[in-house]
Amino acid sequence: MKIRPSKGLTFDDVLLLPRRSSISSRRQVDTSTRLTDRIRINIPVVSANMDTVTETSMAIAMANAGGIGIIHRFMPIEIQVKQIKLVKRAQAVMVEHPYCIDGYASVIQARELMRKYDVGGLVVIEGSGQVIGIVTMRDVNLAPPKLTQVSEVMTGRDRLITANSNISLEEARILLYEHRIEKLPVLNSDGTLKGLITSQDVIKPVQNPFAALDEKGRLLVGGAIGINKGEMERAASLLEAGVDVLVLDIAHGHADHCISMIRNLRSQFHEAQIIAGNVASREGARELAEAGASAIKVGIGPGSICTTRIVTGFGVPQLTAIIDSVEGVRESGCNIPIIADGGIQKGGDMVKALAAGAESVMIGSMFAGTEEAPGLPVIRDGQKVKIVRGMASLAATMGRWAVEHGRDESAEDQEDWMKVVPEGVEAVVPYRGNVGEVLHQLVGGLRSGLSYGGAENIRILHENAEFIEITPAGIRESGSHDVKRL
Ligand code: XMP
Repeated sequence: MKIRPSKGLTFDDVLLLPRRSSISSRRQVDTSTRLTDRIRINIPVVSANMDTVTETSMAIAMANAGGIGIIHRFMPIEIQVKQIKLVKRAQAVMVEHPYCIDGYASVIQARELMRKYDVGGLVVIEGSGQVIGIVTMRDVNLAPPKLTQVSEVMTGRDRLITANSNISLEEARILLYEHRIEKLPVLNSDGTLKGLITSQDVIKPVQNPFAALDEKGRLLVGGAIGINKGEMERAASLLEAGVDVLVLDIAHGHADHCISMIRNLRSQFHEAQIIAGNVASREGARELAEAGASAIKVGIGPGSICTTRIVTGFGVPQLTAIIDSVEGVRESGCNIPIIADGGIQKGGDMVKALAAGAESVMIGSMFAGTEEAPGLPVIRDGQKVKIVRGMASLAATMGRWAVEHGRDESAEDQEDWMKVVPEGVEAVVPYRGNVGEVLHQLVGGLRSGLSYGGAENIRILHENAEFIEITPAGIRESGSHDVKRL
């Protein structure tokens, strides 16, 4: 047994020393950062792979704002795949595999297909693959009942506006505007379909200039996987669906099974981006980096809904965990970033995590109260709230068993409940409106923080950073005090 001589510190234990700054406007700073060794995002924020935080809507909003969302894994593979595809289809320079229908299909089939895939139109093709028209929801809804076949209600080749495969976004905008149309099929030279440009694809880059995009102009998205049997299949399916990064979601990542999972993933999917964790020590970070991870997720027990430290006695205060892990990655010789996961409740926490050497932060409960998080708000004691739950809480664990074993979540099976040792809690958080507004505050804090740190970007913030430990009196002084808040 030994006791480490230095104290473990977390965000509230320290402040950053202000530095001379040449930054005259908060707009001057660069908030972009590395998510992994190969993926860059425009703000250093990742929404957590928790079932009360990130599904499709959150992932779309996060990427539109410049960050990224990680779709949780507590759902069947096919549902997670569907969610990833929805994010990848939410925006693109061009939809690559638009939904198609045969001209001989019925109007009813066309309507059902559009409802099923939640799209407003289908490209009509004939057997040889030639594009012969386009049919929209408007066509099928307004057509007289005597017209029953798609080819009778569609806009046919004679009136169809199409583009060739090297059209630019600006040329597409002009065509869409001049012809007052919503969809522009893009054709190969032989008349077969290459893709579809929609008016949304043209508008969205203007609306969200900061969006985090892949090389095809699609929103970035991550997907979580575990290590149990079948998770290699989940990884393969997510990659096939276009996921940008896999997040190996293991509570204690410094473990033999995590290291061998990273190696297996690396050998099977050479090019995949793999975030691995969670760890909270130098050795943990070093070994996951050496095993082939593309980024390391750090945090054992700092999360708002975590009780791991109480239940098991293990954990490291988060600021120290980040500093140690950065050191571990440096020792490995691998140039990969750290993601600080858990415990971020204020802009200042994020700035401190980045100054300590993390290159992005993962956030759970702060986003759980937003409109885009799964679940509806409820009224509790006259206040609008949403629910957040630790993924190792009793309810989440039982919910998972219910899905895996085909049981009703509400069924009270005394024996099963007794077997669970929860390491997380369920809680309510205030309803906070759109996540974009929460991000606006967070990123505003970061921009100011960079200016106080005399840093044009996150890398310089880390290089310049000097922390000062503070006392309980210093903590009290740091918040508003001695006034009655309105
Ligand atoms: P925040 O503080 O942002 O933390 O809500 C989110 C992170 O907490 C972790 N997490 C858990 N940790 N028991 C734990 O010990 C749990 O039940 C649990 N659920 C989530 C996770 O790393 C997440 O990103």
